[in-house]
Amino acid sequence: MNILSPSILAADFYILGQQIKEVEEAGAGYLHVDVMDGMFVPSISFGMPVLASIRKSTKLFLDVHLMIEKPERYIDEFARCGADLINFHIEATEDVEGVIHKIRSLGKKVGITIKPATPAEAVEPYLKLVDMVLVMTVEPGFGGQKLIPHCLDKVRAIREMANSQGLDTDIEVDGGIDREDVHMALEAGANVIVAGSAVFHGDVTDNVKTLLKKLS
Ligand code: DX5
Ligand code: ZN
Repeated sequence: MNILSPSILAADFYILGQQIKEVEEAGAGYLHVDVMDGMFVPSISFGMPVLASIRKSTKLFLDVHLMIEKPERYIDEFARCGADLINFHIEATEDVEGVIHKIRSLGKKVGITIKPATPAEAVEPYLKLVDMVLVMTVEPGFGGQKLIPHCLDKVRAIREMANSQGLDTDIEVDGGIDREDVHMALEAGANVIVAGSAVFHGDVTDNVKTLLKKLS
């Protein structure tokens, strides 16, 4: 099944609750929550208190994307604040397996994430251990960038890797995806689509419905 994961980074934070309700009512299944620390990526977004408030008011599956150095420092906190799935960058830690096990031990789903310059092969050793691979289709750090098309080749390669190991791994793509690009991402083998600007800029309900049609 294909899933839409709207990224609240592109939301209007003054009316965040209202916009989350809108994406939920329009039928999105996940909510993508981008956490940035100003170190792993140049920008700073938001963290635990925002996640905890969102958790209290929505049943959406919370797909948390940690763009932080040494994610091992904060796994407990993000689990406690209500993440359903924790994605962390394999470039950000020296102990990828340790972080995977930590997330699992807290009963949460596990995703590993790669930046555009990280090759598909880098996820191979961990594929059996995770629920999801998140392939960045822009340089992490900012919303509203243009999709880097060659990143979709990595999606293709990871889907083949998973198939050859008999794994039904979720592959998520994130960055620069608009309604015209969705089919390329699906064709490459992704089944979870993050969209920030394409959901929150303009009419949110209409955007979600249009994207969901492309995903069905
Ligand atoms: C970028 C974030 C993305 C971003 C996507 O670092 O990880 O989730 O919000 O936004 P768009 O869809 O606008 O590129
Ligand atoms: Zn993201």
